[in-house]
Amino acid sequence: MDARIIELPKILDNRGNLSFVENNKQIPFEIKRTYWLYDVPGGESRGGHAYKENAEFIIALSGSFDVVLDDGKERKKFSLNRSYYGLYVPKGLWREMDNFSTNALALELGSTLYDKEDYVYDYDQFLKMKSHGEI
Ligand code: TYD
Repeated sequence: MDARIIELPKILDNRGNLSFVENNKQIPFEIKRTYWLYDVPGGESRGGHAYKENAEFIIALSGSFDVVLDDGKERKKFSLNRSYYGLYVPKGLWREMDNFSTNALALELGSTLYDKEDYVYDYDQFLKMKSHGEI
Protein backbone atom coordinates (compact mmCIF):
# COMPACT_ATOMS: atom_id res chain seq x y z
CA MET A 1 0.00 0.00 0.00
CA ASP A 2 1.48 3.34 -1.06
CA ALA A 3 -0.31 5.28 1.67
CA ARG A 4 2.08 6.87 4.11
CA ILE A 5 2.41 9.36 6.92
CA ILE A 6 4.43 12.41 5.87
CA GLU A 7 6.08 14.62 8.49
CA LEU A 8 5.51 18.28 7.67
CA PRO A 9 7.85 21.21 8.25
CA LYS A 10 7.49 22.54 11.78
CA ILE A 11 8.67 26.05 12.62
CA LEU A 12 8.91 26.11 16.40
CA ASP A 13 8.38 29.53 17.90
CA ASN A 14 7.58 30.79 21.39
CA ARG A 15 4.79 32.81 19.79
CA GLY A 16 3.21 29.58 18.51
CA ASN A 17 4.29 26.88 16.07
CA LEU A 18 3.70 26.86 12.33
CA SER A 19 3.49 24.10 9.72
CA PHE A 20 2.69 24.25 6.02
CA VAL A 21 2.13 22.24 2.85
CA GLU A 22 2.84 23.11 -0.77
CA ASN A 23 1.68 21.60 -4.06
CA ASN A 24 3.93 18.83 -5.35
CA LYS A 25 6.37 19.28 -2.46
CA GLN A 26 5.26 17.91 0.91
CA ILE A 27 2.12 16.80 -0.95
CA PRO A 28 2.76 14.54 -3.96
CA PHE A 29 -0.02 16.09 -6.08
CA GLU A 30 -1.57 19.38 -7.10
CA ILE A 31 -4.28 20.47 -4.64
CA LYS A 32 -7.61 21.16 -6.33
CA ARG A 33 -9.91 21.03 -3.30
CA THR A 34 -9.88 21.59 0.44
CA TYR A 35 -12.57 20.53 2.89
CA TRP A 36 -12.72 19.80 6.57
CA LEU A 37 -14.67 17.66 9.00
CA TYR A 38 -15.66 19.10 12.36
CA ASP A 39 -18.30 18.64 15.10
CA VAL A 40 -18.13 14.87 14.57
CA PRO A 41 -20.20 13.30 17.39
CA GLY A 42 -18.45 10.70 19.55
CA GLY A 43 -18.64 7.20 18.07
CA GLU A 44 -19.47 8.39 14.54
CA SER A 45 -17.51 7.28 11.50
CA ARG A 46 -17.05 9.06 8.17
CA GLY A 47 -15.81 7.92 4.82
CA GLY A 48 -16.75 4.34 4.07
CA HIS A 49 -15.99 4.66 0.38
CA ALA A 50 -13.23 4.67 -2.22
CA TYR A 51 -12.29 7.27 -4.82
CA LYS A 52 -11.49 6.15 -8.35
CA GLU A 53 -9.32 9.20 -9.13
CA ASN A 54 -9.10 11.51 -6.15
CA ALA A 55 -5.95 11.32 -4.03
CA GLU A 56 -6.00 12.91 -0.61
CA PHE A 57 -3.81 14.32 2.08
CA ILE A 58 -5.38 14.26 5.55
CA ILE A 59 -4.19 16.28 8.55
CA ALA A 60 -5.54 16.22 12.11
CA LEU A 61 -5.34 19.99 12.61
CA SER A 62 -6.79 19.52 16.06
CA GLY A 63 -7.65 16.50 18.21
CA SER A 64 -7.24 12.98 16.87
CA PHE A 65 -8.90 10.29 14.74
CA ASP A 66 -8.04 7.09 12.90
CA VAL A 67 -8.01 6.52 9.15
CA VAL A 68 -8.43 2.89 8.11
CA LEU A 69 -7.24 2.12 4.58
CA ASP A 70 -7.87 -1.06 2.63
CA ASP A 71 -6.47 -1.98 -0.79
CA GLY A 72 -8.54 -5.14 -1.09
CA LYS A 73 -5.68 -7.28 0.29
CA GLU A 74 -4.58 -5.58 3.48
CA ARG A 75 -6.17 -3.17 5.91
CA LYS A 76 -4.06 -0.63 7.79
CA LYS A 77 -4.96 1.80 10.54
CA PHE A 78 -3.25 5.19 10.71
CA SER A 79 -3.77 7.25 13.88
CA LEU A 80 -3.46 10.98 13.36
CA ASN A 81 -3.01 13.14 16.45
CA ARG A 82 -0.47 15.87 15.60
CA SER A 83 -0.94 18.89 13.34
CA TYR A 84 2.49 18.37 11.72
CA TYR A 85 1.78 14.93 10.30
CA GLY A 86 -0.26 14.26 7.18
CA LEU A 87 -1.51 11.01 5.70
CA TYR A 88 -1.12 10.63 1.94
CA VAL A 89 -3.94 8.49 0.57
CA PRO A 90 -3.45 7.51 -3.09
CA LYS A 91 -6.49 6.97 -5.29
CA GLY A 92 -8.20 3.60 -5.39
CA LEU A 93 -8.20 2.72 -1.68
CA TRP A 94 -11.19 1.97 0.52
CA ARG A 95 -11.11 4.48 3.36
CA GLU A 96 -12.90 4.92 6.65
CA MET A 97 -12.40 7.48 9.41
CA ASP A 98 -13.40 6.88 13.01
CA ASN A 99 -12.43 7.23 16.67
CA PHE A 100 -12.74 11.03 16.51
CA SER A 101 -11.81 12.86 19.71
CA THR A 102 -13.89 15.75 21.00
CA ASN A 103 -13.19 18.86 18.92
CA ALA A 104 -11.28 16.91 16.27
CA LEU A 105 -10.70 18.91 13.10
CA ALA A 106 -9.77 16.90 9.99
CA LEU A 107 -8.38 18.86 7.06
CA GLU A 108 -8.56 17.03 3.73
CA LEU A 109 -6.73 18.19 0.63
CA GLY A 110 -7.84 16.58 -2.62
CA SER A 111 -6.32 16.19 -6.07
CA THR A 112 -9.67 16.56 -7.90
CA LEU A 113 -12.75 18.74 -7.69
CA TYR A 114 -15.78 17.13 -6.05
CA ASP A 115 -17.43 14.62 -8.36
CA LYS A 116 -20.00 12.19 -7.04
CA GLU A 117 -19.23 9.83 -9.93
CA ASP A 118 -15.73 9.39 -8.49
CA TYR A 119 -17.08 7.57 -5.43
CA VAL A 120 -17.47 3.82 -4.89
CA TYR A 121 -19.78 3.40 -1.90
CA ASP A 122 -20.21 -0.37 -1.93
CA TYR A 123 -17.36 -2.44 -0.46
CA ASP A 124 -18.17 -5.58 -2.46
CA GLN A 125 -18.22 -3.53 -5.64
CA PHE A 126 -14.87 -2.03 -4.62
CA LEU A 127 -13.38 -5.53 -4.20
CA LYS A 128 -14.78 -6.59 -7.56
CA MET A 129 -13.34 -3.51 -9.27
CA LYS A 130 -9.97 -4.10 -7.57
CA SER A 131 -9.82 -7.68 -8.76
CA HIS A 132 -10.56 -6.53 -12.34
CA GLY A 133 -8.00 -3.70 -12.14
CA GLU A 134 -10.76 -1.14 -12.64
CA ILE A 135 -9.78 0.95 -9.63
P1 TYD B 1 -18.82 12.41 1.71
O1 TYD B 1 -17.56 12.56 0.94
O2 TYD B 1 -19.70 11.24 1.36
O3 TYD B 1 -18.51 12.39 3.27
P2 TYD B 1 -17.72 11.32 4.14
O4 TYD B 1 -16.88 10.52 3.20
O5 TYD B 1 -16.87 12.10 5.10
O6 TYD B 1 -18.70 10.50 4.89
O7 TYD B 1 -19.63 13.76 1.56
C1 TYD B 1 -20.80 14.05 2.30
C2 TYD B 1 -21.66 15.04 1.54
O8 TYD B 1 -20.93 16.26 1.28
C3 TYD B 1 -22.10 14.52 0.18
O9 TYD B 1 -23.47 14.87 0.02
C4 TYD B 1 -21.31 15.30 -0.83
C5 TYD B 1 -20.91 16.58 -0.10
N1 TYD B 1 -19.55 17.02 -0.50
C6 TYD B 1 -19.40 18.07 -1.38
O10 TYD B 1 -20.38 18.66 -1.88
N2 TYD B 1 -18.14 18.48 -1.72
C7 TYD B 1 -17.03 17.87 -1.21
O11 TYD B 1 -15.87 18.26 -1.56
C8 TYD B 1 -17.19 16.76 -0.31
C9 TYD B 1 -16.01 16.03 0.25
C10 TYD B 1 -18.47 16.39 0.02
